[in-house]
Amino acid sequence: MSRIAYVNGRYRPHDLATVHIEDRGYQFADGVYEVCEVKDGALIDTTRHLARLERSLSELEIPEPMGRKPLVAVMREVVRRNRVRNGMVYIQVTRGVAPREHTYPMAGTPSALVITARAADPRKAAKTAENGVAVISVPDNRWERVDIKSVSLLPNVMAKEKAKRAGAKEAWFVDADGYVTEGSSTNAWIVTADGALVTRPAEHGILKGITRAAILDLAQRDNLTVEERPFTLEEAYAAREAFITAATTLVMPVVRIDDHAIGNGQPGSIASGLRERFHEVVEVTAV
Ligand code: PDD
Repeated sequence: MSRIAYVNGRYRPHDLATVHIEDRGYQFADGVYEVCEVKDGALIDTTRHLARLERSLSELEIPEPMGRKPLVAVMREVVRRNRVRNGMVYIQVTRGVAPREHTYPMAGTPSALVITARAADPRKAAKTAENGVAVISVPDNRWERVDIKSVSLLPNVMAKEKAKRAGAKEAWFVDADGYVTEGSSTNAWIVTADGALVTRPAEHGILKGITRAAILDLAQRDNLTVEERPFTLEEAYAAREAFITAATTLVMPVVRIDDHAIGNGQPGSIASGLRERFHEVVEVTAV
């Protein structure tokens, strides 16, 4: 079946879907994005994802391409047209098309909106989660505004490639003081010896993950102890468990960080339990 992409008001065959060469996303990485999980033919946590999209746009003074309701309608339509049961929806908004000048384009320049959907095999992800993944650490060389979900992702791209070449699935950024900030496309968590979940506060240095927020809800519901505080790489090496979260990976156990096995080198029971129960606390929007 051929894939369909939504590009600036039109549904186009994926292979033929294009944007202008002077799109500011292409020339300046001047845009933002969101990734939403699709599970059993439904969108997961759209309200939170779209609230974060609106915040990213507002921080960069990029006009919203359309209101939240029509945006959800287009997301659902893209999922329907691509017959995605499980996978993800990708939304990208850039500051639009204009002659190349660093300054923002003329008021009234419409922002550009692209939405795509892609299927993923949940059985493959489950298999990966059964084994757990390896992580490497890299210095955090990103700008300060990583709270904005910008498409400007070069440090993240380079870190993930480094992880791949090292046989790992993710790279954890470490700040100048030795504290882990987050993964190149995931939030980072550890579990202490007495079973507390530790994750960096979302005020500074990380993207405020939507999956992270759902895990905090789940932890509260299930009376798990949560410590929102920075943790060092050394603390992570010695942790009972570690895991990463994102709309794409959900809760993924980490079994190795650099050369250190985490816990007994197997996925931990807390991380695995959170993965199992994750969808009990999310918002589900039928397609
Ligand atoms: N990445 N931190 C970073 C740097 C991310 O890029 C992401 C998501 C997260 C987790 O956020 P959420 O739980 O809302 O997905 C944290 C997406 C999935 C991506 O770039 O593909």
